[in-house]
Order: sequence, then structure tokens, then C-alpha cells
Amino acid sequence: MSDKKQKVGVIGYGWAATAHIDAINKTTNGLVTAVCSARPLDAATLGATHGSAMAVFQDLDRMLAEADVDIISITGYPDQHRDQTIAAAEAGKHVIIEKPLALTLEDTRAMRAAVAKAGVRSCVCFELRFISQFQTIRALLDEGLVGDLHYGEIDYYHGIGPWYGQYRWNTTKANGGSSLLSAGCHALDALLLCMGDDVVEVTSYATQSSHAIFQKYEYPTSTVTLLKFASGKVGKCASVIDCFQPYYFHTHLVGSEGSILDDKLYSNKLHLRDKKWTQLPLALADSGDVADHPYQAQFQAFFDALERGEEMPLTSLEQSAKTFEVLFAADRSIEIGKPVRVGER
Ligand SMILES: NC(=O)c1ccc[n+]([C@@H]2O[C@H](COP(=O)([O-])OP(=O)(O)OC[C@H]3O[C@@H](n4cnc5c(N)ncnc54)[C@H](O)[C@@H]3O)[C@@H](O)[C@H]2O)c1
Repeated sequence: MSDKKQKVGVIGYGWAATAHIDAINKTTNGLVTAVCSARPLDAATLGATHGSAMAVFQDLDRMLAEADVDIISITGYPDQHRDQTIAAAEAGKHVIIEKPLALTLEDTRAMRAAVAKAGVRSCVCFELRFISQFQTIRALLDEGLVGDLHYGEIDYYHGIGPWYGQYRWNTTKANGGSSLLSAGCHALDALLLCMGDDVVEVTSYATQSSHAIFQKYEYPTSTVTLLKFASGKVGKCASVIDCFQPYYFHTHLVGSEGSILDDKLYSNKLHLRDKKWTQLPLALADSGDVADHPYQAQFQAFFDALERGEEMPLTSLEQSAKTFEVLFAADRSIEIGKPVRVGER
């Protein structure tokens, strides 16, 4: 491993940005050296808060031209992700992109084209692929403990009300987009990770809580998507951002030799005396707080892959774009009231 640090310039200085900065600075080979914020910031205060000296910008073009950075981390508003990704790629910078990638299928495809043309590397913040829960589930699946999966459901239950800062823009169609774009994409992405197969068709339905807090949303806040996979497997993903309950990332996977339910396993292959679940000592995806998300492990994997001159595992733009192809098909199904073939447009 070389001593060179991957230098990162962060766009935005909100909730996700602060988690990115601290996670990047905790990796062995990454360092935040610049921040571009719409609000004026004091460089000395920033440096003291996060433990590294940072140049401060209010204009992205200036940061791209003047800052000493190899990577741009995009943590601003979703309706700007497309243009910021393209500008960073054209300036020869690798990109870290917060979810949602963008708010339309066409924009995600334009981002992929720009990143491919520039030959830069990418990391999309589907960081739950790096949490203990899904690392362990993947290992159990690889070991064959539940046999061949034929059914999976992963659902996102997390009330996003005014107690979250992003409520001010997330409630709008222009920036929140849809329930899946806003947050449920994490569950859809985890389901695709576990099922390990291409989705051919989706059918989705949508509804909305009658509570005044959730009526403020300009799009339906609860959706449920049924997925048909190429091999014949089926799945389900609910995205419910208008609930009053603790955060719950419901995970139920069913295979030919057993099942996984959240942090529990049942497997014929264990030959246990009683038909009971075995509790797995893993860290569940059980918090919407960015401070609890495994950004550090994800960014470490990205920086290590950059040092090897390779695409990162699990969450490159090309990999994550597959989830967004399914997501946009699901949102289209809601719009037209019919099943939609994935990749049809
Ligand atoms: N992966 C996750 O689990 C996760 C969690 C939270 C947020 N996010 C994502 O992170 C992004 C930001 O969300 P947030 O909760 O931090 O929002 P936020 O409102 O707290 O922060 C956004 C910040 O971006 C700044 N900004 C906007 N336009 C800018 C521009 N052109 N240049 C510089 N700064 C600009 C705003 O001033 C604000 O400070 C969204 O895409 C959101 O979906 C992801």
C-alpha cells in the first residue's frame, strides 16, 4: 500500500456531508482537503471540527479548477447530482455519489456515459452493502446454508418527518422524487444484492398516510413493488417513509434449504434438534442516522480499489445503476398502472 492519500473535495455541507468527511478521514488512505458549500463556511472551524485542513469554496467550477483533489464526493441536493457528476468526471475526478443517483432514468444514463467517457472511477452510497448484516447474509448464501433462494422481501420502514433536516426538500417532487428515490432504494438495492439475479419485470402500487406531516409530501410516500427475476424467482420491496414506528429494515429470504429473517437463520443443513431460529450476532441495518451507516468501510473499499486501479466492489456506478433501472421501472409502473419490463426505455 502506498503512502499517498486519496484527496477528496466534498460538495455540500449538510447531514450526509459531515458523515462523509469523518468516515473518509478515518480510512487509512483518504483525506478531505476541500469543501464546496452553498453557505459560506470558515476553513479554520471546519479543519478543527474534522481534523484535516480544508480549502473552502462556494462554486463547484472553482473547486474543480483550484482544489488539490482526486475525488469529488457529491452530497448536495438530488436534482444537482447529474450535473455535478458530469462536471467532476469531465474534470478528471473520481466520484462518490450519494443516493439517489439522480431523479430520472435519462439522467442516470447520462452520468454513466460521462463517467465511462472520462475513464474515472465511481462509488455510489448504497453503503448498506457493507454493513455486517448484508456481509453475513451474503456469506450464508455463498455457503449454501439456505440453498437456492426463490423468494425474498426487503422492506424499508422509516418515517421521514420534520424531525429530519432533509424534510424541507425531500417532501418535494422536484427533489425527493418518489418514496423509492427518497430512501426505499436502500431496501431495493439490498434485495437485488441478496437475490443475485436480473429483474425482468416489476409491478408497483402506491398510497399515502392521511397524517398532516406526510400529506405535505408531493408524491405517494408508501409503495410496494413486486419483482420477477430472470430465473423465475420473485421478490417484494415496500418503501414506507410515512410511518410512526422505529426504523425497520425488514429482511426475509426464503430458499430451498432454509430461510433468513432479519438477524435469524433457519437451515436444514444445521440439523438442529428443534425447529427454531438461530440468532445471528450481527449488526442490523436498524438506524436511519448517517452516523450509524458503514460509510467508512465503503470508502475504504473504494480507496483501496483506486490504489489497485480497479472498479470498487459492490457499489460502483455501473453496479448501482442496475438498481436504479429497476427503481425507475417501479415508479413508471405506479404512473401507468401496469407491470413494466425493466430496461424497456
Ligand atoms: N446514503 C444515505 O443513507 C443517506 C442519508 C442521508 C442523506 N443522503 C443523501 O445525501 C444527500 C444530502 O442529504 P442531506 O440529508 O445531507 O441534506 P442536507 O439538506 O442536510 O444537506 C445538503 C447540503 O447541500 C448544500 N448544497 C445544496 N446545493 C449546493 C451546491 N450547489 N453547492 C454546494 N452545496 C450545496 C446545502 O446548502 C445543504 O447544506 C441527498 O442526496 C440525500 O438523499 C443519503
